[in-house]
Amino acid sequence: MTLRVIAIDGPAASGKSSTGALVAERLGWAHLDSGALYRAMTLAALDNLGDEGGGKGEGWNPQRIVALAQELPITLALVGREFVPTVAGVDVEEAVRSERVTTRVSAVAALPEVRAWVNAEQQRVVRQHPAGVVVDGRDIGTVVFPDAPLKVFLTATPEERARRRLTQRGQAPDAERVRRESQALAARDDADRERPVAPLKPAADAVLLDTTHVSLEEQVARVVALARARFRG
Ligand code: CDP
Repeated sequence: MTLRVIAIDGPAASGKSSTGALVAERLGWAHLDSGALYRAMTLAALDNLGDEGGGKGEGWNPQRIVALAQELPITLALVGREFVPTVAGVDVEEAVRSERVTTRVSAVAALPEVRAWVNAEQQRVVRQHPAGVVVDGRDIGTVVFPDAPLKVFLTATPEERARRRLTQRGQAPDAERVRRESQALAARDDADRERPVAPLKPAADAVLLDTTHVSLEEQVARVVALARARFRG
């Protein structure tokens, strides 16, 4: 049976999650933002393990983070079409977007033990949702679902991504803010690209989509058209 998964990968703020959510809505599928799970792991580590990683998270013991995820527990709950992360039964969709989580998440996501746990969680959820799931992240097409019939890799220039992220936060995208935000995005992209485990890169069979000059509506329409061609019936 065909695996009903669409993998959407790409760098920070490239529009994966908004595209994924809208594509899922059009197709009547569910949407899973794998970054939210890495963020939930990071939030749980910050709240329960303190700053023992020298404030950056690098020193956190991976086994303790995974044990926390099992004990608290960290899970995914389906709300409408959206899989949202919960920690100890509390919806943390908003809390995981905080700056303190964002600055540490790449260090946590570089830990192989954490990745193994997050991957197993994603595969479990997809097995339980045969209608189809749009999954977005960094390694969905390369590692988590290498058999996904449709893989899309979204890119856009760092400046355009910075502008989008600022607008999303309700901040005016003036030149100085764009400069600072694109530097922060680039630092996270470098960390994600250069890590030894599951680095950020397009799968060999991914469709590359540069969205710098493409509207959200148009990029959603393109992915939906590709999906209709690949998943007939
Ligand atoms: O929303 P944004 O693009 O800024 O980031 P995200 O998708 O929420 O992902 C946050 C972080 O989680 C990334 O910077 C990666 O370090 C990590 N991540 C990953 O390693 N693998 C994934 N499949 C998804 C996220």
